[in-house]
Amino acid sequence: MNQEIENAANLLKQSKHTIVLTGAGISVESGIPPFRGADGIWTQYDPITLDLDYFLQNPEISWPVLKKLFYDPYGQAKPNEAHYALARLEKQGIIKTIITQNIDNLHQQAGSQNVYEFHGALQSLKCLKCDTQYKREEVDFKPTVPRCQKDNGLLKPNFVFFSEGIPPLVATQSFAEALKANVVLVIGTTGEVMPACAIPYEAQTHGAKVIEINPNKSNYTDVITDVFLNGKATEMMTALERCLVDV
Ligand code: APR
Repeated sequence: MNQEIENAANLLKQSKHTIVLTGAGISVESGIPPFRGADGIWTQYDPITLDLDYFLQNPEISWPVLKKLFYDPYGQAKPNEAHYALARLEKQGIIKTIITQNIDNLHQQAGSQNVYEFHGALQSLKCLKCDTQYKREEVDFKPTVPRCQKDNGLLKPNFVFFSEGIPPLVATQSFAEALKANVVLVIGTTGEVMPACAIPYEAQTHGAKVIEINPNKSNYTDVITDVFLNGKATEMMTALERCLVDV
């Protein structure tokens, strides 16, 4: 493993433009469960509840799941050492951008500045009738279905539901980053959900090297990963950061 950490550190040192793609795995050690795998959310809940059309037709079924999964635990999770290490590496200019599939805001809480939230965020909601935007703190979550204070319209979190498009600006910015990248550091994602999962492939096709941190193999590992750091995000990021000081 030491050799792999050193290889990854060397790639990062030589790279002029390193981007990071994170998934649910980076927040597992902050106490947030992943979606897939043995302890994943989808072993207990049906993903259909987060499908846009299903939500529109069955808000009284989807909203209790949204609250249980995302809003009840909101604010309890704190960034872990992997989030903090990425924020420090950004300050040092070693990484340029984080593209995250996560909606938990933990990169920003750790101090990262340049974060593209590919799947939106939990922090705000909008009324589907009048488009009024609400901060999470402004919403009354007590009713089964939270509603707009102005016109009683259905409130929807500003994160991307299944069968909903990615916000065009963040999609364009993220893929532009992939084209610029010399190295993509992929942390804690299975690489199963389009179009986010295409970002490392896009970068690799344009010459970028791929470093991956994951305790399990992902869809990338045997296909495009150049250096596989086979372990947890906090352990691998700590080792990598330490090694970057030395190389
Ligand atoms: N450190 C790093 N990686 C970890 C850790 C850890 N401590 N624990 C688990 N992992 C890895 C798993 O091995 C798996 O590869 O994190 C990954 C989590 O995968 P998913 O649950 O599929 O999460 P993600 O890839 O982010 O899902 C993508 O799917 O449902 C949608 O919109 C949701 O953004 C999400 C998207």
